[in-house]
Amino acid sequence: MRAAQVTRLDGPDAIELGEVDEPTGDGVVVDVHAAGAAFPDALLTRGLYQYRPEPPFVLGAEIAGVVRSAPDGSHVSPGDRVVGLTMLTGGMAEVAVLAPDRVFKLPDNVSFEAGAGLLFNDLTVYFALTTRGRLQQGETVLVHGAAGGIGTSTLRLAPVLGASRTIAVVSTEEKADIATAAGATDVVLADGFKDAVKELTDGRGVDMVVDPVGGDRFTDSLRSLVAGGRLLVIGFTGGEIPTVKVNRLLLNNIDVIGVGWGAWAGSHPGALTEQWNALESLLSSGKLPAPQPDVFALEEAAAAVASMENRTAKGKVVLRVRD
Ligand SMILES: NC(=O)c1ccc[n+]([C@@H]2O[C@H](COP(=O)([O-])OP(=O)(O)OC[C@H]3O[C@@H](n4cnc5c(N)ncnc54)[C@H](OP(=O)(O)O)[C@@H]3O)[C@@H](O)[C@H]2O)c1
Repeated sequence: MRAAQVTRLDGPDAIELGEVDEPTGDGVVVDVHAAGAAFPDALLTRGLYQYRPEPPFVLGAEIAGVVRSAPDGSHVSPGDRVVGLTMLTGGMAEVAVLAPDRVFKLPDNVSFEAGAGLLFNDLTVYFALTTRGRLQQGETVLVHGAAGGIGTSTLRLAPVLGASRTIAVVSTEEKADIATAAGATDVVLADGFKDAVKELTDGRGVDMVVDPVGGDRFTDSLRSLVAGGRLLVIGFTGGEIPTVKVNRLLLNNIDVIGVGWGAWAGSHPGALTEQWNALESLLSSGKLPAPQPDVFALEEAAAAVASMENRTAKGKVVLRVRD
């Protein structure tokens, strides 16, 4: 089968499309139609992620496709349209074998390409906004990296889960258009975002900050919160892991909340299914719009993963594996 392989840890340019044996093992065998790409894929190509597989390995944490075979007693059958999580490699290939509890039926109204961009970010953001962030009706949510995977997911999910306003923070005007298309109420540029947010909210600030970027904007994010506001720590695409002077938390009753979706799913049996059931009903009822991914061909896997590293990705990045 064709697969996007990392053969040496030299970054996205070292991803090669090659012929490899189909995977074996117990589980649900899926003919993959599309595979999601996420920021951790870029880190994996350099051996910089917390999980460090030895090359050669096939990239890809999430897929959408059609079940070829499933173990007896599975909740899916051959021919079913599904999405699934590989946790964390093997998805950017024509065939993947997944643990049954990480495979979910894809609603008919969601395409394979949109489906391949769903799980990783939407499940993380759903968990972040509800379980960790305790989002309340009518709250205002600010999201950094708003034109990226986690960002666009937040812009789609926050209103459905009760937010009355979403403020997207992006680095360029082109990304502002992506954030607007994903549903942002307002968009501000990263440069000077604190003052822009202050003006937009008449000095009040926002109830919640969703932060997949970290870096040097962290303190201004804390300054942008209302008293009693929450900042959700999701990731560090900006490179630097910020530190916080905790007096800032005390002075304004601020919560800084860690979001480790993978760790939570790994230690809470049934959590993934519970999160997916909530997401699936929002998607199939049409309340939650499907993602509008930036689609690359499988042959372009290197460019697709590089677009996250070089900051040119336009929304969630997905690879088309077969037509
Ligand atoms: N905690 C969890 O459970 C969990 C789960 C999933 C993902 N994550 C993490 O969430 C983060 C975002 O993932 P993603 O898939 O949304 O990534 P993405 O699609 O690449 O988006 C990340 C955004 O970060 C911004 N950014 C700022 N500085 C950057 C830099 N130096 N290089 C690259 N991007 C930069 C970019 O927006 P601007 O250019 O507009 O600033 C970009 O759109 C990653 O760190 C990932 O590991 C965490």
